Amino acid sequence: MRWGCLVALLACLPLQLAAADQPPAPGSQAMGALLPRDGADAAVFRGGLVFGNYCITCHGMNADGNGRAARLYNPRPANLRQSDKNDAYMLMMIRRGGQAMGRSEFMPPWGAELTEEQMSDLTVYLRSINSARR
Ligand code: HEC
Repeated sequence: MRWGCLVALLACLPLQLAAADQPPAPGSQAMGALLPRDGADAAVFRGGLVFGNYCITCHGMNADGNGRAARLYNPRPANLRQSDKNDAYMLMMIRRGGQAMGRSEFMPPWGAELTEEQMSDLTVYLRSINSARR
């Protein structure tokens, strides 16, 4: 009987250790600690999701201008990591598109497709991955 208890305990041990490696369940308190409900980190996270849905075909998943469709365009989709433009310009470019800004018509206007929050989040995300010094 006592041995049975010991075996049961040992059998559970690896499971408990493995459980500690699992990411917290969505909506759990631990997840809340990782992703603040709002603030700059949350905006970066949301902006990254929007970018993944709408922008990577041209700008690439690393935002370096090397998306799958990039070679179809001349000028090429911008390397958004190296952009020297400020946030206001980036936001306007996203909202109004290239043509309205005197640039390539192949940069689409996103103002009718995305919400203000999504476009603002994109701008915060692009700032977070930008390594160009201004
Ligand atoms: C169909 C291809 C295409 C898609 C999709 C696209 N872009 Fe672009 N984007 C371009 C091209 C081409 C340029 C370069 C325009 C130029 O140089 O005249 C550009 C330029 C830009 C610029 C200007 C950067 C700078 O330094 O001047 C920003 C900002 C930008 N894109 C953001 C986005 C975002 C955010 C998305 C997703 C919501 C997106 N683009 C989706 C093609 C695309």
